[in-house]
Amino acid sequence: MHHKISSILLLFLPFLITSTQVSRPFLKDLKVNGSKESFNATAANEKLNTTYSVVPDWPDGSVKLGSVSAVTLDVDGNVVVFHRDDRLWTANTFDMSNVYREQFKGAIKGFTVLALDKASGRVVYKWGRNLFYMPHGLTIDHENNAWATDVALHQVMKFGPKGSSDKPLMVLGSKFLPGQGNKFCKPTSVAVLKNGDFFVADGYCNARIIKFNKAGEQILQWGEHSFMGHSFPVAPRNHFAIPHALTLLQDKNIVCAADRENGRIQCFTALNGTFVGQFHSQTIGDRLFSMAYSPASNGQFFIVNGPDSPNTPVSGYVMDYKSKNVLSRFGAQNFQFSNPHDVAVSEDAEEVYVVELDPYKVYKFVKSKTDKSGRIPVKPTVTSVDDKDLPSAAKTTRSDRKKGSLALLVVVLVVLFGVLTLAMTLLISRRRRRGCTKLGSKRTRYAWDLPSKPDGFRLGNLLDRKKSGFEKLDQNGSDDEKTTAVLTT
Ligand SMILES: *[C@@H]1O[C@H](CO)[C@@H](O)[C@H](O)[C@H]1NC(C)=O
Ligand SMILES: *[C@@H]1O[C@H](CO)[C@@H](O)[C@H](O)[C@H]1NC(C)=O
Ligand SMILES: *[C@@H]1O[C@H](CO)[C@@H](O)[C@H](O)[C@H]1NC(C)=O
Ligand SMILES: *[C@@H]1O[C@H](CO)[C@@H](O)[C@H](O)[C@H]1NC(C)=O
Repeated sequence: MHHKISSILLLFLPFLITSTQVSRPFLKDLKVNGSKESFNATAANEKLNTTYSVVPDWPDGSVKLGSVSAVTLDVDGNVVVFHRDDRLWTANTFDMSNVYREQFKGAIKGFTVLALDKASGRVVYKWGRNLFYMPHGLTIDHENNAWATDVALHQVMKFGPKGSSDKPLMVLGSKFLPGQGNKFCKPTSVAVLKNGDFFVADGYCNARIIKFNKAGEQILQWGEHSFMGHSFPVAPRNHFAIPHALTLLQDKNIVCAADRENGRIQCFTALNGTFVGQFHSQTIGDRLFSMAYSPASNGQFFIVNGPDSPNTPVSGYVMDYKSKNVLSRFGAQNFQFSNPHDVAVSEDAEEVYVVELDPYKVYKFVKSKTDKSGRIPVKPTVTSVDDKDLPSAAKTTRSDRKKGSLALLVVVLVVLFGVLTLAMTLLISRRRRRGCTKLGSKRTRYAWDLPSKPDGFRLGNLLDRKKSGFEKLDQNGSDDEKTTAVLTT
């Protein structure tokens, strides 16, 4: 009963969010006086470095994908994607109690898991036929086991290396039965510790993180809805509005969750789930779909956001763990995406992969040897406009100064490189800028601009809201995963 009420409330979440400015549990409400209004996310985005560039034609057109929900790397460095083949998550996919409505379709018949060679993009191995109904998360652990979550099945499954011939080694949750306790409700993601303990983010309708031991027994859980029962000016610690992805910071023994509709990353000790920090940036906005972590450069998050305010581009971002500064930005075209859903990064942060629900794409990015942006970071404005710190977090101006001197260093280096290099940099930068301005009026593409199948019907509705000044359009549907798609129909 309680569960049912929760589900119904959840369905109305976006409505509540869009209709009540005061009770929105979003971090942007922090900036009630002043900076919220004046913050220009577009401008902040344009000032970021573009350190990563997309690898064209990787993979080539022979790799056929449906909506791609997850990307991860296996122990051999292959890029493993999890996709939905012929399935779409639409307004009708689930009933009001989060029960999957399309069991009659049977499990997806095609290969849902494809491992791609990171250099050639060719399929190295594939598996996952007749197992999944609505793929969501995929994680490959240090032993090359694959952990999948399926939001239709409400289950978490562990497979051996390369899918162990489609035979799961462990299945948690009850098939097609959403719930609490030992059941899940649209579980999103798994993270696995070296000792075999693992975490499950559960999920769209429960707002908890569960820690299991190697045998699959629950040993710890934490988390509450930030959108039910209370309204918070800012979602408190340990509260989630869809814990949508997990990642481990092995070097710090920390597990972090993408708290999607709160637009933040929350981190906890892997040992006991104690809150250790949270990460939010106005530059990234109020919807944060997934993050990956690299220990390189003392720790960096690679983040993908989601369609939100018309002023916040949808992109990939690099955020420094220590300073919480957004360092850099990457994307498919014009440094942007449409509906990115997951991101993976190599240990050394040289390669980054992003998958999208729509278009059905996986992208590869590589770190440029030089800062190709041409916008050498001489403008410390980025840091000053960017309020990435939460009230609980200590603000630091030290990093600004550090950034300033770094910028100076970079400038000096550039001069040392000589007139030729400088000229070339300028040339590249000018071209790039021209490219931007040309597209100026269409600088950002939003989900509601897309002719995406299940959501086209909402176009008018959304445009109206846009005009009337609403910034928060969470259920703009392209990401169908909106718990609330029903509402907008
Ligand atoms: C913003 O609010 C805080 C808390 O009330 C206050 O200390 C600060 O002076 C306010 N600033 C503005 C610009 O109103
Ligand atoms: C935000 O910045 C962009 C790019 O710098 C600019 O074109 C736009 O006019 C600014 N918007 C506002 C509201 O100032
Ligand atoms: C949780 O673990 C951390 C170390 O990871 C430790 O500092 C802290 O005291 C622990 N807290 C509890 C309540 O056990
Ligand atoms: C751009 O990148 C350089 C080096 O990669 C870094 O030092 C600088 O802080 C970055 N700029 C910004 C604005 O983050």
